[in-house]
Amino acid sequence: MHASSHHVIKVARDTLYCCYLGWQLGTLSPAELCPRDSSSASSQTSPLTFKPVTPNGLLWAWSGIPLRIVGVVLSSRFCGQEGSGAMWPGLRTLRRPISSLAARGLVYEKHGEPLQVLRLQNLEVNPPGDYDIRVKMLAAPINPSDINMVQGTYALLPELPAVGGNEGVGVVAEIGNHVTSMRPGDWVIPVDAGLGTWRTEGLYNESSLIRVPSDLPVVGAATLSVNPCTAYRLLSDYEILRPGDSIIQNASNSSVGQVVIQIAASLGITTINIVRDRADLSSLVQRLHDLGADHVITEDHLRKPEMKELFKKCPRPRLALNCVGGKSTTEMLRHLDYGGTMVTYGGMAKQPVTIPVSALIFKNVKLCGFWVTQWKRDRAQNREEVTKMIRDLSDLIRRGKLVTPRSTEWPLQDFAKAMRDAQTPFLSRKQILIM
Ligand SMILES: NC(=O)c1ccc[n+]([C@@H]2O[C@H](COP(=O)([O-])OP(=O)(O)OC[C@H]3O[C@@H](n4cnc5c(N)ncnc54)[C@H](OP(=O)(O)O)[C@@H]3O)[C@@H](O)[C@H]2O)c1
Repeated sequence: MHASSHHVIKVARDTLYCCYLGWQLGTLSPAELCPRDSSSASSQTSPLTFKPVTPNGLLWAWSGIPLRIVGVVLSSRFCGQEGSGAMWPGLRTLRRPISSLAARGLVYEKHGEPLQVLRLQNLEVNPPGDYDIRVKMLAAPINPSDINMVQGTYALLPELPAVGGNEGVGVVAEIGNHVTSMRPGDWVIPVDAGLGTWRTEGLYNESSLIRVPSDLPVVGAATLSVNPCTAYRLLSDYEILRPGDSIIQNASNSSVGQVVIQIAASLGITTINIVRDRADLSSLVQRLHDLGADHVITEDHLRKPEMKELFKKCPRPRLALNCVGGKSTTEMLRHLDYGGTMVTYGGMAKQPVTIPVSALIFKNVKLCGFWVTQWKRDRAQNREEVTKMIRDLSDLIRRGKLVTPRSTEWPLQDFAKAMRDAQTPFLSRKQILIM
């Protein structure tokens, strides 16, 4: 072929390529093109990645602006609302314009007390790879394990720097080309821990998320993946419980404890609920009764002769749920039925569990532990049980049989107050960050 023909083809090809890149980059936000600070964060597989801004990148960005304007006009014309795609499903695999100016999140670069190490920073969120999902977070709670993770004392620690938070709910904003299980507009919650949910926006692998109904209350959905799942498993997996049977638990006013009370009540199982004594004990007791608790007693009460009276009204428990450790656990175990099971899932007192030898020999009690993260990881290849559990819990919420624990909602920028309250004893409120 003649050299000038080569030149014409090359110019045409380059022009088309420039248009393509201009379009792609024109759909990116300024935050993606020019990360505002060097600690920008991305997906959970690589929590924080750094993207240098090159002169070429800026050129492409400018060349994309007219195309972006056309794209935004078209998408708002045909799709109703940006990022939803609900009215035009065929468009779901297009690269959609990112509407946020910059994602923000609570980042820690070293372990320590949350108030000292957490910083609200701008984050970079890359466009989704083939199996990724870009999620706009709506709300995320602060759980004890989140605090322990920041402190560096939890069993699972992310690579640093990291974004804090392990659960929450978000709305799917954009999906990769090979994502099949979710669409823009769906609500999703994490199915794995360590995803860093204290952020306005994040990029996650499809396999690390699961869909939840979008008609759930936001706080209910945000707090679904850890505590309700734990309560559900504790009641399902260790003893066969029938209506009329009883269970006993400590830290009954914890979020897990409150869900245990409500699920047990819906199944006709009697609950004996231990709480720490406090100034406003009667209002706490009333609140737990309102949730469906049958008996609410203090830790001190466990050693009193009145316990015998209680067991005239209900059978000895087949199952004990331990969230505390130390003396509380030893005392609770004394009341377990012959051959019953005690499952430890929390250690709020930070003290070891001491078991009288007689409980093992003469009462044949079984002791075990539970970790919801491991339970879900063991089912990573087959999600059937996880999906069923989420469906059952969502149904309970919809039917008003499962209400979310009392909570206080904080805008993300007020995270310091939320962290302080999350660590205040006897407050009995879940702190929720609203993005
Ligand atoms: N293993 C798992 O898979 C799993 C899953 C979910 C949760 N957890 C664990 O379960 C525990 C509760 O989590 P959550 O989110 O339900 O907690 P939460 O709603 O924040 O409640 C914390 C509970 O712990 C009690 N507590 C705090 N310090 C205590 C102490 N020194 N002695 C006795 N009780 C104390 C509180 O009682 P007061 O009102 O008296 O302060 C409250 O009942 C945590 O340890 C968490 O890590 C484990």
